[in-house]
Amino acid sequence: MTTYALMLFIHILASTIWVGGMFVMHFAVRPAAVALLPPPQRLPLMAAALKRFFDWVAAAVVAVLGSGLAMIFGARTFSALHPSVHLMFALGVVMIAIFVLIRLVPFRRLQAAIAVEQWPAAARQLDAIRKLVAINLVLGIVTIAVATLGRALF
Ligand code: HEM
Repeated sequence: MTTYALMLFIHILASTIWVGGMFVMHFAVRPAAVALLPPPQRLPLMAAALKRFFDWVAAAVVAVLGSGLAMIFGARTFSALHPSVHLMFALGVVMIAIFVLIRLVPFRRLQAAIAVEQWPAAARQLDAIRKLVAINLVLGIVTIAVATLGRALF
């Protein structure tokens, strides 16, 4: 097995956990919690689920970036890479920045509001997280399209 193949495996596994996790949170966990639970139960549940998910995303980010850069440095020069890899890199960096923003700003505010049982403030922060996760989900799907279809399209 080549190092490149191993890096590609880690890269795709980590991006699957990240993008698939956002899909499940956005389309299954949150709507089910909204439909079934009142805010004093729903908001702590969502914060606890997001905490666990974000810990996994942090690991996935390190793995995606590390494996992606390892594959790039395995190539001769950055400029020799297909443009789709450059675009993937740029989109990946934007996704990482959005994740760091979510984790450091609205997620911390969500935890603080829950700690003092300020449910309307907590709901506003959760809504901000939902919108940012939706943006990152779209970017993730676009990045997968660029990574897989890029060579055929441009
Ligand atoms: C963060 C910076 C990233 C870097 C530096 C990077 C780099 C790379 C490199 C060098 C390859 C191999 C490309 C090839 O040889 O054709 C690759 C493949 C791939 N990347 Fe990324 N990537 C990044 C982010 C992402 C993200 C965020 C996703 C998904 C959301 C992603 C999904 C993929 C997929 C699906 C492939 C497999 C493409 C194929 O073999 O057909 N990458 N990446």
